[in-house]
Amino acid sequence: MSQPYLSLEAELHDAFWEAEDGGSEVELMASFLEKFPGPSLEIGAGSGRLMYPLLQKGFEVEGLELSRDMLDLGARRAEPLGIRPIMHQGDMTKWRGPRKYAALLAPAFTLQLAPDPAVALRHWHSLLENQGGLYLTVFMPYAELLGDLPENEWYDDHFVTLPDGREGLLETRHRLDHERQIVEREHRYSLSGEPPLTHLSRQSVRW
Ligand SMILES: C[S@@+](CC[C@H](N)C(=O)[O-])C[C@H]1O[C@@H](n2cnc3c(N)ncnc32)[C@H](O)[C@@H]1O
Repeated sequence: MSQPYLSLEAELHDAFWEAEDGGSEVELMASFLEKFPGPSLEIGAGSGRLMYPLLQKGFEVEGLELSRDMLDLGARRAEPLGIRPIMHQGDMTKWRGPRKYAALLAPAFTLQLAPDPAVALRHWHSLLENQGGLYLTVFMPYAELLGDLPENEWYDDHFVTLPDGREGLLETRHRLDHERQIVEREHRYSLSGEPPLTHLSRQSVRW
C-alpha cells in the first residue's frame, strides 16, 4: 500500500520536523552529493524541506513525491525562494523518468514506508547510473520496542505553535508486529483555528 502524506499530515509535516531536528540532514546529504557529482533524485521529497536547501547550495537535485498535497505545499514554498525545482509525481516503487541519476537520496526513513523495501531498493538501483550512490537514513523504533511508549494507547507525539499562532498536535497510537517487523501507527492530527481541523491517518513503518 502506498502511503502519501495528505491533508494535515502534509501541512504539519515540516513544522514538526523543524521543531525536532531543524534540517540537520542537509549537511550530510550535501557532503554525500559532493562524492557523486551529477544529477540526483530525492525520493519522497515532500515539500522540499531538505531538497530546496540543496538546490540553493548549487546541487542538481530533482524530487519524486507521491502526495499531491505535499507537491502543492512545495510549489507554494518555492516561489518566494526564487527557485524552480523539478518535482515528479509518482510512486517510488514504480516511477521511472527519462534519465538516470548519479545519486539517489532517501532521507527521513522514507524507504521504510515502502510495502516491500527490498522491491523498492531493486527498483531504485535501476534508476542509478553505474557506480551511482544511494544516501539512505533508516529509523529504529527503539522507544516502541523497549516499551518507553505505551502500545495500543494514544499519546501526545508532537506539538507545535505555527508562526500565525495556531497550534498543531499529533497524537499517535501504535501496535507492534514483531514477526513482520512492522510498527502500525494511527495518527490523529489537529490544528486549532476557526474552524479547528482534524485528520486521521495510518502508517506502517518497517524496521
Ligand atoms: C517522512 S516524509 C519525508 C519527506 C521529505 N523527504 C522530508 O524529509 O521533509 C516521507 C515522504 O514520502 C512520501 N511518500 C510516501 N510513500 C511514497 C511513495 N510510494 N512514493 C513516493 N513518495 C512517497 C510521503 O508523501 C512523504 O512526503
